[in-house]
Amino acid sequence: MYKTILGVAVASLFLLAPAHAGDVEAGERKSQVCQACHGPDGNGIGDPQYPLLAGQYADYMEKTLRDYRSGARDNLIMAGFAATLSDQDIRDLSAFYAAQTGPLRSMRGTR
Ligand code: HEC
Repeated sequence: MYKTILGVAVASLFLLAPAHAGDVEAGERKSQVCQACHGPDGNGIGDPQYPLLAGQYADYMEKTLRDYRSGARDNLIMAGFAATLSDQDIRDLSAFYAAQTGPLRSMRGTR
């Protein structure tokens, strides 16, 4: 009886978890290569040619990175970095930057 209840509870946890959600900690590890331009936490390095990423919508960032990778968004620098990213890398990196605090305003946490 208890095993059944436990089984159902555990199964529903998996059902509730979004499929292939981005992992913030994995994203942090993968962001090492991005830091030279976007800063350690996505707040930049004080050079306005590099966009701030901290607090950006994860869904916007995922689309943007896929667009750089496919060439739909054309930028030589970012095309090179995005080319090395898997779909999971993109989800993890986007989750990491979305979780950082910065001056960008988004609806994160309110919807
Ligand atoms: C050598 C410098 C450099 C590195 C390293 C770099 N970027 Fe960028 N990134 C740029 C530049 C320049 C732009 C602006 C490109 C444009 O105009 O589209 C940009 C733009 C972006 C954008 C779009 C931001 C927006 O507001 O639309 C994202 C997302 C992004 N980078 C993520 C990353 C990630 C993730 C990494 C690491 C895997 C990374 N970048 C590494 C230079 C860099």
